[in-house]
Amino acid sequence: MRIAMIASEAAPFVKTGGLGDVMQALPAELARIPGNEISLFLPYYKKIKYDPRQDAEPVCSFTVNLTWRQQYVGVFRHRGGENEPTVYFIDNEFYFCRDGIYGFYDDGERFAYFAKAVLSAMEKLELQPELIHCHDWQSALVPVYLDAEFRGSFPSTRTVFTIHNVEYQGKAGAEFFNEVLGLSDRWRGICTFDGCINFMKAAIVTADAVSTVSETYARELRYPYYAHGLSGILASKGDRLLGITNGIDVLHLNPETDRALEQNYSAKAPAGKKACKRALQRELGLVENDAPILAMVTRLVSHKGIDILCYILRRLLERELELVIVGTGEAKYEHALQSVASEYPGKFSMNLRFDSALASRVYAGSDLYLMPSKSEPCGLSQLIAMHYGTVPVVNATGGLKDTVPPFNPETGEGLGYTFQSYNGDDFLGAVDRALGDYYGDPAVWSALVRRDMEADFSWKLPAQKYMELYCSLV
Ligand code: GLC
Repeated sequence: MRIAMIASEAAPFVKTGGLGDVMQALPAELARIPGNEISLFLPYYKKIKYDPRQDAEPVCSFTVNLTWRQQYVGVFRHRGGENEPTVYFIDNEFYFCRDGIYGFYDDGERFAYFAKAVLSAMEKLELQPELIHCHDWQSALVPVYLDAEFRGSFPSTRTVFTIHNVEYQGKAGAEFFNEVLGLSDRWRGICTFDGCINFMKAAIVTADAVSTVSETYARELRYPYYAHGLSGILASKGDRLLGITNGIDVLHLNPETDRALEQNYSAKAPAGKKACKRALQRELGLVENDAPILAMVTRLVSHKGIDILCYILRRLLERELELVIVGTGEAKYEHALQSVASEYPGKFSMNLRFDSALASRVYAGSDLYLMPSKSEPCGLSQLIAMHYGTVPVVNATGGLKDTVPPFNPETGEGLGYTFQSYNGDDFLGAVDRALGDYYGDPAVWSALVRRDMEADFSWKLPAQKYMELYCSLV
């Protein structure tokens, strides 16, 4: 099948979060399936365009209109190897040659332009995708412009829109419709929600199918608590809203080969994990003992559960354990965590930075991974943690619920520890159960660690499920 993927980020070119990882691994996995031809469209951000290692070739240029604006579009192509996606970059220095990716006053206009430019590029290059798969609000206007202005060129192309996080919907004032979008009046209602222009809502209504990144999140999105205003619209999609749980790139995220680690290890030869723990303690100035290391690699924002972590933090630190946090975020959390860390030298290491090699060493060297997110569409770091033999403690929401079945010491089933309501005391209760098992029976604990490492979090199954979805539409 000819499939075009459209997103605002994809590793290794550009990544600010989980979306970037998914957009690297999913197109790659789909491209390995015989008979598929995958193209991926991204903005040609300054960071990519002026990277001396980039090797994209120019393929064509033209202009697109956004009402009175006539904007240049340059298309650059990075050819992958055999059975790899072809990446197309949309070049426009006015919109994309900036320091940073998002957060500009004109983000709405930038990504409205992007949607139109991508469709025009497909038209000029005669790509004729059978299926266009759009991700998050930044590519949400693609299904809209496709139906409104490009149907003549793509009469039977079908669209899938995937929600990676419903919190970011792409909103603009009502005047944006006339000033930027330039669509015919019949699209006004479709693009409007709650008196504003809402990109995500327009895609939910227009796309042939809507998916999100876990089955539980797909159910949760039908309720106001999770849906940031869009529950009614999402519920009305019925069974055309489905969840497909993400995988991780198990080739690159692999404790057997990860070069950031002190020593490599695997489920069959796990000894190196202990060496990684010692090395991590040394690197971060923690006491080199056998207490469990609890870790978090996260953005320090409230929906990641940092508020309930702060609430239990001192009680947590009374236990026999060590705590490592890596990440940056809201100033109030950075200050609160750092000030507590300074009271517990050798026991609590707070690292206000992001560094992927350090993240690898933390996943490898720790025993428990904390992910108390208030809501979590899928979550990737609990998967990485388990793959590195670090047992997760999670709030049973969204993808965390789907990927971390609770451990039952009686039967030996399950992969981690969960709590059911977003509440600090329940979170601490789950940590205490984990500590009980860690200290209780080393054989049970190593069996749990081994099962986590052996669980299949690859993209194989999710990619197949996407193929089934695409085939049902095309
Ligand atoms: C978003 C979500 C996260 C998900 C990722 C990739 O970042 O918040 O839960 O894993 O997208 O789909």
